[in-house]
This record gives sequence, structure tokens and C-alpha cells, in this order.
Amino acid sequence: MCGIVAYIGPKDATAFLLEGLQRLEYRGYDSAGVAVAAKGGLKVCKVKGRVADLAAAVPARFKGTTGIGHTRWATHGVPSDANAHPHTDVAERIAVVHNGIIENADQLRALLAADGVVFTSETDTEVLAHLVAAHSGEGVELEDAVRGALGQVVGTYGIAVLDSQQPDRIVVARNGSPIVLGLGEKEMFVASDVAALVRYTRQVVHLEDGELATVRADGFRTFTEDARTVTRQPSTVDWEVASYDTAGYQHYLLKEIHEQPAAVERTLSGRLDERFATAHLGGLNLDARELREIRRVKILGCGSAYYAGEMGAQLIEELARIPAHSEPASEFRYRNPVIEADTLYVAVSQSGETYDTLAAVQEIKRKGGRVLGVVNTVGSAIARECDGGIYLHAGPEISVASTKAFTSTVIAFALLALHFGRIHDLSPADGRRIVAGLKALPDQIREILEQEKEIAELAAAYADNAGMMFIGRTRGYPVAREGAQKLKEISYVHAEAYPASELKHGPLALISPELPTVALVPDDELLDKNLTTLGEIKARSGRILAVAHRTPEAKLIDHCLLVPKSEPELDPLLLNIPLQLLAYYAAVALGRDVDKPRNLAKSVTVE
Ligand code: AGP
Repeated sequence: MCGIVAYIGPKDATAFLLEGLQRLEYRGYDSAGVAVAAKGGLKVCKVKGRVADLAAAVPARFKGTTGIGHTRWATHGVPSDANAHPHTDVAERIAVVHNGIIENADQLRALLAADGVVFTSETDTEVLAHLVAAHSGEGVELEDAVRGALGQVVGTYGIAVLDSQQPDRIVVARNGSPIVLGLGEKEMFVASDVAALVRYTRQVVHLEDGELATVRADGFRTFTEDARTVTRQPSTVDWEVASYDTAGYQHYLLKEIHEQPAAVERTLSGRLDERFATAHLGGLNLDARELREIRRVKILGCGSAYYAGEMGAQLIEELARIPAHSEPASEFRYRNPVIEADTLYVAVSQSGETYDTLAAVQEIKRKGGRVLGVVNTVGSAIARECDGGIYLHAGPEISVASTKAFTSTVIAFALLALHFGRIHDLSPADGRRIVAGLKALPDQIREILEQEKEIAELAAAYADNAGMMFIGRTRGYPVAREGAQKLKEISYVHAEAYPASELKHGPLALISPELPTVALVPDDELLDKNLTTLGEIKARSGRILAVAHRTPEAKLIDHCLLVPKSEPELDPLLLNIPLQLLAYYAAVALGRDVDKPRNLAKSVTVE
């Protein structure tokens, strides 16, 4: 949520800042800005709109070799030129870009206003610029002024600070919002996400919470808020530069949908044990005896991560026969949850940054619970906070709507459920059945993706409705929820998900030719029940797009998308794939900004 970049070196900073911001735009895209230190002063350019609008607004003579930039997702104040970052102090000496939230901004504003500071924006960030300026007395080093300012602040932040009178450095700090340093040849880069850095360097240093760094062209020094120096060794970014590009696809989302077979292969890689018909998960940090003592599993995540958790809960209940339940982390953290010693808590997050999920993990740990992470981003805040976990290895996911990380999360849960199951009562034969089913999934996903053209035509035909209903029974219900989420998120078409069994208890009243239904009709023990529901919808003149293993009778449906059959426990994962393409092509047909849907951002690092 929001993106930060900074550059210091021999070159013109603006080119890197603008390119880096474009790479981070998926994190927030309602306004953007840059500042450079030039001739003892600051040059600042910021606009409401996209990075492309900023690039068009930057004057030709906007030159400087030390600079910072930001792309914003509004929290305090509407998207506007004034509220865009960087923010400066009254004398325009200090410029600050910030991700996160300053919780005591109102009190600090009042204090600063009493000292005569006139604010020019509605943001919490502007407070930081004035505070740094207030601590920047004669001969005070920028890092000391920043430490002084942060000492007054309560909240979360990733910041980069520029002082026009000390242009030989940028000071950055992290508390709850990522900051990464990129090491170049006599030049240094900073970003809130490696996506902005990989074209320039693969050598990076991740700051820890509570750390600051002074970044100069020839290196960096990391230290704590009480000025103790800490040593941080660089690491190498694993992913190829191409992983951060669209690779010729029209959108990141389409590319990521197509990357799913490879992502699934990576999530499975080295984890299946055919001899014992189980899965090996090295990072759990729980031995078989400890796992046997677990009586319940509680899964926590937000949005699609929560829906993937619902699929995970079903897998764990079915394969391991352990009660499992998924709950939105955003609700859990506020309801003073009871934490049980024999419950295993599992936090799910693609980004590993989602604040609500992180806060839920912290709440569990504070009360003595044990938490596993199912996370895509290696070394992220949630991954670090958990006691152990499973990395997805799905690769960087750039599009705001989650697809490949969702699928890989379900795979990770299938592995966990298999592992658990084989420690409990899942038979070797059933274990082998699941291992074989998992191995077949990449090719089955490829098979579904081959129907892309047909799905695109159906999506265009169904997009032109005020809304859509998604229904599924038991295993199919989380699929319906995720399908509806994807459609509303990127196409802005209203979509409701219901358990098919619940339709007659109320929502059937909504059924009409104007509200088509996407019905999940797997060939399982509930097939007859699902066919009955289709009949009930048809009797009310509802239109039906079935996603099924076998085409239902023509009188029960209008259209059908066929999906290859897996093992019943794994079927939901495949049933979900056509719904991703359906949402994507509906959004394209409606001319939506697919990768950057309105009002959203990729990582929600605020409450
Ligand atoms: C998914 O399409 C959404 N953009 C959103 O619901 C997302 O899954 C949620 O915000 C959680 O993100 P996380 O996995 O990074 O924690």
C-alpha cells in the first residue's frame, strides 16, 4: 500500500524514481510525486493521478542526483496534488515520503500548529516533515533529526527523508512497512518493494522494524532508534527480472493466471513423498508428536487469503479429520479471541504485509498461541512473526487481484492436510490418491486455460448485467465466494456468493433473467442436490452458467464450462480457475483498469 523509491549516486535521480514508481504503482495509484535535492534547495513535483501523469508534469530541468518518490493510496485526505507525497516543511528544506499511518498525527499537528506551523495538506505524513525540520538544528546530522522526530511518533511507517542541506545522504526508517536498500556500483537505491530495484541490482538489504539507515552513494549504515549500529548483510533477490514484467501479456493478471501451472509445480516441488504417501514441510517447526496434540486448526487471512483459508479448512477436515475453520483476520483481531493451547493457528498472506493479518498473529502470540504462516513473500513481516510455516514460491504477484498466490495457497493447505492426515488416520491408499491428484494438477490447469477463448466470449456475454450470483455447496462454496470476489474486484459488477443450499431461504427472491447465476456443479456426492437447485433457478427464469465436470441437462442451464475431474478434495482448486478468466474477461469487456482496480491497492498495510 503506497510505494516508496529513492536514489543517490552519480546519475540523474528522476529517471530511476519515475521508472521505479511505475513498477510500484500496483501498491497505490491515486497520486504520485518526486523530490530531488538541487543547488541547496528542493525541487518537488507531485500530482493527483497515475505515475504517467507525474512523468508528464515533471519539468525538463528537474535535475538532481539525490531524490525520493512516492505513489499513494489515500488514507488521510482525498487524492489531490496537495495530499500527494513528498511532503515538505515550511522552509522547504526537508522532504518526506511515507507508507503507513501516524496514529498520533492529530496531537502532533496541534503541537506544531501552536508553534506556528501552517499545514498545506490533510495528511498524517506532513507532520513528519515538520518534526524532522524541528529537530534539524545547526550542525545536526539528518539521521539524528529523523531519530528525534520518530521518537515523537506513534504508528507504522516506512519512510525516506531528504534534506536539501545534506544532499550526500538519504535517511530511511522502517516500522511495520517494508524498506529495502539496493546496492549498486557507487550508487544506492531504496524502495518499499524489490520490484522497483531488480532492474538495477539484485543485491539488497531488508531493514528490520525499528531500524534506520543512512544511505550514501558509496554505501549505507544501519542503526536502531537509540543510535546503536547494527550490521546487515546483503542478500540476493531470487527472482529473475522477467518475473516482474508482463512478458507480452496485456495485463499482469492474465500473465499470473497463465503462470499457475508453473506456480503449482514450485509450491509442490520437493514436498511430495510417494514412498510414505505424504508431504514433507520443512518449515513447520513442529514434529509428528506435537502435530498429534493439535485438536483444532484456526486459519486467518483477509479477502482472497481468507477464502483460500476456507478451502484449506475443508482440506484439513476431510483429510486429517481435525476441526478446522477460517476467519477473516480483520475481524478476529478485534474480538478478544480465546487462544487455545491445542489449536494450531495459521496465518495466510500473499504479501506477508497485510496489517490486519499481522495484528492477528501478534495477538495470538501475545496470548501464547502458536502460529504457522502460509506466505508468498519470503522474509515479509508475517513470515518473520510466525513460528514456522510454508512458503508458496508462487513468484512475484503484481496484479492487485490475487490468482496464482490463491491457487498456491490452496496447494500449500493440501500439503499440510496430507501431512496432518498421514500422521492421523488417512490411509496410505488415500495418501497416494492425493499425491497423484496433486501431481496431475498443473496439466489439468493447463487444460482449463486452453478454454480461454470460449470463456472470454461467455464473459463478454455475461458482463453486461447489473449483478451475478455465485453458488456452490460445501466444497463449492469457497469457490463461489472467491469467484464473486474476483468479479466485483476487477469488473465492478456486483456479485453475491451463496451456499447453493441457502438459496431457497431468501436469495431466490433475487433470481430473474437480469441476475444470472454461476453455479459450481462438481461430479460429487452432492451432484443431485446441485441439479435440483439449478431446476429451482430455471423455474424462476434465471440464467445459469454452470462450471461442471459433466454438462447438466440442457433444460437446466444456459451455458456450461467443463473442468477436468481431480480428487473430490482437490476439485475446488480447479473449479476456481475458469472463474478467474471469467472475471478477467468481464473486466476487459467493460474496459476496466484490470491490474489497478479503482479504490484498491495490492497490499493493505493499514487498519
Ligand atoms: C485479492 O484478489 C484481493 N486483492 C485481496 O482480497 C487480498 O487477497 C487481501 O487483501 C489479502 O492480501 P494478502 O494475501 O497479501 O494478505
